[in-house]
Amino acid sequence: MTEPPKSQTPRIRYSEKRRQAHQAASYDVKYEKEIVKRASDAREKRLLTHILARSGRHQRLLDVPCGAGRLSAVMADNTERLIEADYAYPMIELAREKGAESYQPAVANVSAFDLPFGDGAVDMVVSIRLNHHIPDAVDRRRHVRELCRVSSRHVLVTFFDAHSMKNKIRNWRGKKRPKSTMSRAEVTQLAGEVGYGIAGFWRLSPLFSGHTFALLERTAS
Ligand SMILES: C[S@@+](CC[C@H](N)C(=O)[O-])C[C@H]1O[C@@H](n2cnc3c(N)ncnc32)[C@H](O)[C@@H]1O
Repeated sequence: MTEPPKSQTPRIRYSEKRRQAHQAASYDVKYEKEIVKRASDAREKRLLTHILARSGRHQRLLDVPCGAGRLSAVMADNTERLIEADYAYPMIELAREKGAESYQPAVANVSAFDLPFGDGAVDMVVSIRLNHHIPDAVDRRRHVRELCRVSSRHVLVTFFDAHSMKNKIRNWRGKKRPKSTMSRAEVTQLAGEVGYGIAGFWRLSPLFSGHTFALLERTAS
C-alpha cells in the first residue's frame, strides 16, 4: 500500500499521532472502555443507521476516515461495496480485521485532503469525526470540498457546530482552547458552491455534544 502524499495534507498534530500503532490501538478500545464514550457510540450508531436509511442503498460507499472500523458494520449494511480509508496505516489494519469475516472492506491509505479517486467515483462519502480536528478554517472547507468532489450523490460529514450549546458553554467558561468549528450556514453555503444541497442536519446530542451530522445531496452534475 503506498502512503498518501504529504505535500497536499496540512500538518495536523492529531493526524500524525494516530499513525503510531499504540495510538491506533488505544483509539480502538476507548469507545468500549469509557462509559460516556460507550453511550455516545451507541447513539452515534443509531443516528448513522437512521441517516443511511434515508439516503438509500449505495453501490460504493467510501468511509474516510474509517479509523479502527468502529462504524463500518453499519455502513456495510447499506452498501454493495465498502471502501475503508484512513491516513494512519495501523488504523486501516484494525478496520480490515474487523470486517475480514463478513463484509470484507476494500482498504486504502489516503489523505482526506487529496483522495486518489476520480470525480464522482463513489455514490456516497462518509467522513465522521475528522473535520473538528483540522485547526485551519480554510482546510476545514477544503476537506468538505474534496469529499463532495469524489461523491456522485451523497456526502455525510460531521463538524463541530459553532452555535451548539456545548461550544457556547466551552467558550464562555474559557478554560479550554476554542474548538475547530463550522456553522450550519457555512456548510450550507459551501455545499451550494460545489453543487450540493442540504438534506438534513442532526446533532449527536442537543445539550451534551457539538458534533453535528450534515447530509449533503448532489443537486447539479
Ligand atoms: C476520531 S478518528 C474517527 C474515525 C472514525 N470515523 C470513527 O468515528 O470512529 C479520526 C481519524 O482520522 C484519521 N485522519 C487524521 N488525519 C487524516 C487525513 N488527513 N486523512 C484521512 N484520515 C485522517 C486518523 O488517523 C483517525 O483514524
